[in-house]
Amino acid sequence: MNRDEIIRLIDTSDFHPTIYLESDIDSTNSYAKRLLRNGLTSEAIIIAERQNQGKGRANRIWYSPLGGLYMTLVLRRECQPHRCSLFSFVLALSISQVLEKQASLQIDLKWPNDILVSGKKIGGILSELEVNESEAPVILLGVGINLNVKVSDFPSELFKSATSVLSETGNSIHIESVIAQIVNSMDSYLIQDPTLSSIVPQYRPRCITIGKHVSVQSISESFVGQAMDITIDGSLLVRHESGMEKVISAGEVIHLEGG
Ligand code: BTN
Repeated sequence: MNRDEIIRLIDTSDFHPTIYLESDIDSTNSYAKRLLRNGLTSEAIIIAERQNQGKGRANRIWYSPLGGLYMTLVLRRECQPHRCSLFSFVLALSISQVLEKQASLQIDLKWPNDILVSGKKIGGILSELEVNESEAPVILLGVGINLNVKVSDFPSELFKSATSVLSETGNSIHIESVIAQIVNSMDSYLIQDPTLSSIVPQYRPRCITIGKHVSVQSISESFVGQAMDITIDGSLLVRHESGMEKVISAGEVIHLEGG
């Protein structure tokens, strides 16, 4: 990958991150945290050609061979803690736009942050909040997208649930321009809607979780119900089998069959 090419293709008005490109690191999210601990004061993007300890949500491993896109955006933006997840929706919408345009794929989103093609996962976002007493919280958005990797080369347990741009289209895609266009698209969303008030209305039609019969694992409970809607601050509204409606602000959902 070529850092100068990424910088050349980035065309933003408001978002001017420092770009770090590494060939092989543990995890771009972990690297971002180390940069913050060592005094990073700007916004930044950390990109890796591969990761040897890629992290998924819920302590899962993120398989990260050469050919995929692995990056972490370090954002310093005003945000009430309960609305920070809207930034990961902005990123998911940007990724959807870019993959649809560049690879002619139809992208669906699964709450909160799975990026799907034909029901299979092509990418995901791991968002973390770095809180330090002396400054405003920093938002870390780690994104992994299976681009120029064949699903047949993935660990066998992922064969059924994962896909990639190469496996879907038969073609490789230019990683530098995918990265730059995602950054450019994020910039446009953030300029057009600094308060993020229009993000959920744009996320909702792409979110295939709504209407599904789901199994929910939140921090405090596990239950089965029907996903009804996404609230204006990005939580999932689920009707429990007892009829009670619950607002899930963080957690994992499984789409159950027949739902
Ligand atoms: C998920 O479980 O769906 C989230 C996957 C996030 C993976 C990305 S790859 C770049 C960044 N660094 C990591 O270690 N994880 C995220």
